[in-house]
Amino acid sequence: MSNPAPSPGVGVLDQGTELTFPSGFLWGAATAAYQIEGAATEDGRGPSIWDTFSHTEGTVVAGHTGDVACDHYHRLASDVSLMADLGLKSYRFSVSWPRVQPTGSGPANAKGLDFYRRLVDDLLDSDIEPWLTLYHWDLPQRLEDEGGWPARDTAARFADYTRLVVDALGDRVRHWTTLNEPWCSAFLGYGSGVHAPGRTDSAAAVRAGHHLMLGHGLAVQALRAARPDAQVGVTVNLYPVDPATDSPEDVDAARRIDGLANRFFLDPLLRGSYPQDVRDDLRRICDFGHVRDGDLAVIATPLDLVGINYYSRHVVAAGPPEPASSGFVSGSTWPGSEDVRFVSRGVPVTDMQWEIDAPGLVETLRRVHDEYTDLPLYVTENGSAFVDTVVDGRVDDVDRVAYFDAHLRAAHAAISAGVPLGGYFAWSLMDNFEWAWGFTKRFGMIYVDYDDDQARIPKSSARWYAEVIRRNGLAAQ
Ligand code: FCB
Repeated sequence: MSNPAPSPGVGVLDQGTELTFPSGFLWGAATAAYQIEGAATEDGRGPSIWDTFSHTEGTVVAGHTGDVACDHYHRLASDVSLMADLGLKSYRFSVSWPRVQPTGSGPANAKGLDFYRRLVDDLLDSDIEPWLTLYHWDLPQRLEDEGGWPARDTAARFADYTRLVVDALGDRVRHWTTLNEPWCSAFLGYGSGVHAPGRTDSAAAVRAGHHLMLGHGLAVQALRAARPDAQVGVTVNLYPVDPATDSPEDVDAARRIDGLANRFFLDPLLRGSYPQDVRDDLRRICDFGHVRDGDLAVIATPLDLVGINYYSRHVVAAGPPEPASSGFVSGSTWPGSEDVRFVSRGVPVTDMQWEIDAPGLVETLRRVHDEYTDLPLYVTENGSAFVDTVVDGRVDDVDRVAYFDAHLRAAHAAISAGVPLGGYFAWSLMDNFEWAWGFTKRFGMIYVDYDDDQARIPKSSARWYAEVIRRNGLAAQ
């Protein structure tokens, strides 16, 4: 299938006194299953790697788990009402693989699918377009026991699971994302081990990255076969990577980190090949013998759109390595580039200590458009954690409003520069389980009071975003 023309309205601006977005721009908010659903053992759901990992001592801050999370599983209807109050045009959620297929193979668990049927029906009844992500990191534990993503068979299992989901929901869901952020699954899950399943094996991380992308390609083909009209994409997390100085060593450090963070995924997915320099950098770790003939053609199966998650920028310098990462390490976040230092520029940061860099969003979108594809792009996540306090029943999160405002202006600038940007999803609809940080980091536009019966309190950012959606833009500055 060839790349379709962008839908009408994508990337076409109305000029006016306001910063108006193209008509039909898809204003959304995003969440992920393990971060909000809870009900970890209900209705036949099997354990995922995140259940096992979060129940392992020393993995998640304060021993938090997603057992209950935001209890969204039991609050689906009222949560969808909150989305309708915001005026959301779309809601990006993920399906929990072990809820649908408790051991990662075999028939579907009907009760698990029923939950997503109800969710999708409620969304459609509220005129909110469902945007379904098939994999947001919760691999069934059984599949990890059988080798996990470093094992080739997991890719085939993912395609089987995709068929179950599209058979159940394909008549109602138009937008499909295969994977969320394969870099995190591969390099945090199997490299540094700070995410589930917590393995620290660089070679396994490289293989995992490949099999995730292979699973993606097979899933795209399964979706196309079942629903030729589906809009299918993948979501990658991208960063501009700058050298701290123009010394050749720093420039090379930036090339290497850009290779692992961005091009390791963009090139196979959108060009059908691994970048040669990245393969060379990784030679000492992995011979790429796991890549079989034909894999890259599957991985590069044409898409309808590309999802981009954007949070920050990396500025890097060549060594000397931090003591903790010196010498040969069996696993790392940046295999083969453990000597690279991440340099802080001293600019304002969020509660994650991520530097706030809205121009980086323009650069990222333009790069993907200029260097890789004419496909419509969507910002499938962008947002910030800040320390929120409830005062008189209100949360006035001015820093988060400023973050969204700056990044939406950047998104608008990218559109003005010719990027076919079709939509923007705020991360996140509500506060939730922030992976290794547990509930200690709040990204939501809706505050969740975990200690007071999960009360939901829309923050100032929720009201602000509702107004942006209502006027389809921002006031010009
Ligand atoms: C992204 C994840 C998402 C959330 C945000 C803050 O990497 O996709 O689940 O944790 O970061």
